[in-house]
Amino acid sequence: MAIEFRALPLTFVAHVLAIAGAIMVLVWNLYYRGGLAWDSANKNLIFNLHPVLMLIGFIIIGGEAIISYKSLSLKKEVKKVIHLVLHAIAIILGCVGIAAAFKNHNESHIANLYSLHSWLGITIISLYGIQWIYGFIVFFYPKGSPTLRSESLPWHVLFGIFLYVLAVGNAALGFLEKLTFLESSGIAKYGPEALLVNFTAVITVLYGAFVMLSVLGQAPVEDDDSYTAI
Ligand code: HEM
Repeated sequence: MAIEFRALPLTFVAHVLAIAGAIMVLVWNLYYRGGLAWDSANKNLIFNLHPVLMLIGFIIIGGEAIISYKSLSLKKEVKKVIHLVLHAIAIILGCVGIAAAFKNHNESHIANLYSLHSWLGITIISLYGIQWIYGFIVFFYPKGSPTLRSESLPWHVLFGIFLYVLAVGNAALGFLEKLTFLESSGIAKYGPEALLVNFTAVITVLYGAFVMLSVLGQAPVEDDDSYTAI
């Protein structure tokens, strides 16, 4: 790719969008949807953990893991640890978020895995886990040969971008699905809650766009494992 630009300013925009998205999904679930709970007679509170953990845990922390190479001026080895730890946190919170959706379905006697959103969701989190394990073994411990590492890196980046874009799209699908359920059960189509949910999805997509732009930009400190073009 011929265009060259610095990634750092774009990562600042991504951080601001991350904070906005996190606040919006919390306001939605705490104020409009009645709060969060792992165990409750009100099964909706169990479901509410799903969007909160999927957006803040999986999408936002996963995005911060991706842009950590571009947002931090630290040594490569330090950034590698930050990258893999943030991704591990994203996967764990994503698994808890998905478990909350299953728990809500099971306790409310609703079928599991009937929607496109749920099929893509299971596929994404599984491939994300495989990508993390491969990255850990090849780039961190026990570490592949220099040839394997340099040959794996472009694929790691490409597959990571593909999965992340799919995850952001699937989160948007999740917001759409939940809002459609709520609108069929009576909430106003142009009411404040509907606008809040739609704008949370817009902010999520914009966050994903700035994560991707940051990936394409140049890191603050170049190192031997950096890439400047895909
Ligand atoms: C990338 C992030 C996400 C992933 C990987 C994901 C994954 C999943 C999975 C695997 C299920 C199936 C649970 C079951 O069958 O019991 C599910 C259900 C659901 N999710 Fe998500 N989700 C994500 C984000 C979101 C967001 C942000 C919302 C917004 C509210 C949402 C709304 C829903 C709804 C309404 C269901 C229940 C209906 C259904 O099974 O399709 N999801 N999700």
